[in-house]
Amino acid sequence: MPDTHGHNPLDLPSRPRRNRRTPAIRGLVRETHLSAAHLVYPLFVHEGGDEPIDAMPGQTRWSLAGLVAEAERAHALGVPAVVLFPKVAASLKTPGGEEAHNPEGLIPRAVAALKQALPGLCVITDVALDPYSSDGHDGIVNDAGVVDNDASVAALVRQALSHAAAGADVVSPSDMMDGRVGAIRSALDDAGYTDTGIMSYTAKYASACYGPFRGALDSAPRPASGGRHIPADKATYQMDPANAREALRELDLDVQEGADIVLVKPAGPYLDVVHRVRCATDLPVAAYQVSGEYVMIKSAAAAGHLDERAMVLETLMGIRRAGADLVLTYFAPQAAAWLAE
Ligand code: PBG
Repeated sequence: MPDTHGHNPLDLPSRPRRNRRTPAIRGLVRETHLSAAHLVYPLFVHEGGDEPIDAMPGQTRWSLAGLVAEAERAHALGVPAVVLFPKVAASLKTPGGEEAHNPEGLIPRAVAALKQALPGLCVITDVALDPYSSDGHDGIVNDAGVVDNDASVAALVRQALSHAAAGADVVSPSDMMDGRVGAIRSALDDAGYTDTGIMSYTAKYASACYGPFRGALDSAPRPASGGRHIPADKATYQMDPANAREALRELDLDVQEGADIVLVKPAGPYLDVVHRVRCATDLPVAAYQVSGEYVMIKSAAAAGHLDERAMVLETLMGIRRAGADLVLTYFAPQAAAWLAE
């Protein structure tokens, strides 16, 4: 029988386009949702005034006051959480990264200021030594030129305790040392911080996508300082980009050690890993759209090659569709504003 346009239809029992015909139908059958409630906003803080970050157009190194104001702006747009990264003065950097657990350090003060101004904001802190390490590593480089796992874990535990004491809701080890989640969990519990959560970087890859971030913090590895051998990259602790099964091994360990949230990083080039982790655990999964992913979109949009808004919303949706509950993204307030329109 001819269709309503008088044509003889193909004999197709299944026409998927029927479910795409109108915005209402598309909305009814939509499988994945993206909202501000899923977003975590990474913020940079330093001693000094607010200053633009050349390596990351549109991002700022905030003063403490600027940090609070920016967090207020994001929170008002519906962003529920921030994660903090410090740029530490070169004069405070040491091979052992001792400034990382200074109870009066920048991060404890930033946490306290944020929790005072915005008690409902979820404040997450980064646990790793690289911003504080004169060698630019996430752990401590020993005399043999090796990033010493167990010595590093001891330092990370002290750092996490100082963040919990300042009122952090969640501490987030991004260092990839073995055993740090368990060590942090038991130290937090012994000190009475049983309610402080751990978002573990479970599968963090040795990625080229971190370049702009290292520029923002001046935290890249610094080879051969003072005659010591310093590894030129982070390949002995961050994961090989070729490996996906290994992420599940890291996942098993983090689950056993008491992680509350497990994170995959970067996000976009590792969506298969996000999906595998999603399928292998009932814990919440986070994914981090990192600085390199951010600048790829920013610079292509600035050059007029693509539509920034459409790219941001599509990449964030893709990360959610792969299985992430939470998405860390520098676009958080902008995406929240677009999603509210
Ligand atoms: C290091 C750390 C890095 C990032 C977050 N924490 C960089 C690195 O491992 O060298 C990168 C985040 C980004 O690129 O946006 N602890």
